[in-house]
Parts: sequence; structure tokens; C-alpha cells
Amino acid sequence: MLDKIEHTKQVFITELQKVVTLQDLEQVRIKFLARSGEIAVLFEGMKTAAISEKPALGKALNELRQCTQAQFDEKKSSLEQTAKPKEVPFDLTLPGRPKPIGTKHPVVQVMEEMKRIFISMGFSVETGPDIESDYYNFGALNFAPDHPARDMQDTIFIADKILLRTHTSPVQIRVMEKQQPPVRAIMPGWAYRNEATSARSLVAFHQIEGLYVDHGVTFSELKGTLVAFAKQFYGSSIKYRFRPSFFPFTEPSAEMDITCFICGGKGCRVCKHSGWLEVLGSGMVHPHVFQAVGYDPEKYSGYAFGMGIERTAMLRYNIDDIRILYENDVRFLKQF
Ligand code: DAH
Repeated sequence: MLDKIEHTKQVFITELQKVVTLQDLEQVRIKFLARSGEIAVLFEGMKTAAISEKPALGKALNELRQCTQAQFDEKKSSLEQTAKPKEVPFDLTLPGRPKPIGTKHPVVQVMEEMKRIFISMGFSVETGPDIESDYYNFGALNFAPDHPARDMQDTIFIADKILLRTHTSPVQIRVMEKQQPPVRAIMPGWAYRNEATSARSLVAFHQIEGLYVDHGVTFSELKGTLVAFAKQFYGSSIKYRFRPSFFPFTEPSAEMDITCFICGGKGCRVCKHSGWLEVLGSGMVHPHVFQAVGYDPEKYSGYAFGMGIERTAMLRYNIDDIRILYENDVRFLKQF
């Protein structure tokens, strides 16, 4: 009987070692530890044993029961541990969350495209300060002392004779002051006007200025450059015209119109039924401007031009309210 007990213990140990799953373990429990399992049968057998053997048998059986139960419990808890899904900090199988890729603002896109075209024609890019003096913004550009643009109603003043530049033209003066001809530069940047915000105007907007000064620069060079620009920027099939105009810093002055590319010149809401769109102001640099920067107007001539960037973006993308450009509405911006 003692041999049988020892044998049962050994069989139990080998079978327990083979256990891989909780189901296997249950089979072992049924075979050995259940109410009618092998160990219970051994306890039954003790009833018929000789009285003298009973104390030793009882002890051995109790030991068997305790040691098999303890091994069983240990195995069970270790299987339960591994069966439990491990707590992972994140689920590697989840698809990634896509991060929306931003796009360049339409105003930046237009500015970069303009820069690219002028750089390809040999222009350099220059900048100047947004806060200017009356002298650079007006005086050196030949604005008469009583010119209406010098009024507080049109210009944002910061202090006496200190203002936010109303156009990028003062950068022309700064470039010519520090450099002798030939000068061939474009000057993009912010400009500010003391105006009510509306569908057509903003207090702060962008312009791009152009300047070319050398010996014998002619009006036909001005036209040739601007036409080449317009064909690259707006498309080679556009038609154009130059209309006489007035700016204090150029003489003669002209505005350039192109055929409305929305209606093809037939007349629509965008071109106000004229068939033409005004795209820029230009002219031959006024001799007074050359004198202000110390260039000899007898020796040099030059042309200048300026255009609004938001305005150009509106034309190009058929936007009818300038304010939408700065509302930062992603539904609008992601179309570009
Ligand atoms: N500064 C002018 C404006 O703000 C635009 C302009 C016109 C610039 C003619 C020029 C120019 O350089 O020659 O309306």
C-alpha cells in the first residue's frame, strides 16, 4: 500500500509536468484529486488495512494529499497568470492616426510664384522695415507735403512722422541708398492702410514692389518685363493693355490690365463687366526720386512697379471676399 501511494505520487508528478493548458490541468484534477479520483480511492483502501498499519498509511496518505494539492494549486495559478492577457501600454495592432499635412497659405503660394518668376529674370529679393518714417514712405517718393495719402485717415501713424508703411515703395529708396546702379530688385512685404475692413480691403495686406535702374532703361523694357511676367503668371493666352495713370514717384505712370480670365473678356461680375482686370501700377522712376537717393537723373533711368498680393490671389483663385484669406478656416485653406 505504501508503494502504491509512492507510485501514485510519481505518476501525478509526471502528468502534472506534461500539463500545458488549464484544460489539461482539469483532467489531472479529475484523475487524482476529485471525489472519486485515485487519491480518494487510496483513502478508501485504508478502511480495509490492518490496524497496525493504519497510522503509517494515514500519515503517508495525508502527505500525498497535501503535496499533490499544493503542486496542483501552484500549477493552476501559474497557468492562470500566463493565460491572462498581459497589460500592454498600447495596442500595436491599431492603425495609426493620420496627421493632416498642412498646405502653404494661398497668399504665400502667390508670393513664392511671383518671386520665382522675377528671380528667373535676374531680380534679387530685398526687404525693408514695416515701421517707416514719413520721409521714406512719402517724402523721398515725391509725395507733395499736402498729398491726401499723408492724412491720418489713410495712414496709420505710430508717432509724429513715424508710421506703418502704406506701400512697399519705401524699400526702393532704401535699396537705392545703399547700392549704386545697376539695381534690379523685387521687394515683397506687408503694407498697412487706415481703412475699414471690407470684402475688398484689409488694414494689413501684402505688396510686391519691383525696381530696375541702369543706364538707358526704357519704358518698352518696363512693358516687356511686365508682359513676360503676366504671361508666365496668368497664362500665355492673356491679352493686356497699359493705361496712363498717376503716381508721385513715377513719370510717366501706367496701370496694367489683363483680359479677365474668368469670362475671357466677355464681361462678368469679377471684372465688373469691363472684360479687364487691373493687375499692377508702374512707371518710369521720377527724377526727384533719383535726386533723393543721390543718383544722377541725367545719367540713369529706371522703371518701378507694384502690385497687391491678396488682390492677385483673389483674382487667381476666384475669391470674392478678401477677408476669407485671414479667417484661418481650414475648410477654405485646405483647398489650396
Ligand atoms: N505703391 C503703389 C500703391 O501702393 C503701387 C505702385 C505703383 C508701385 C507704381 C510702384 C509704381 O513702384 O511704380 O498703390
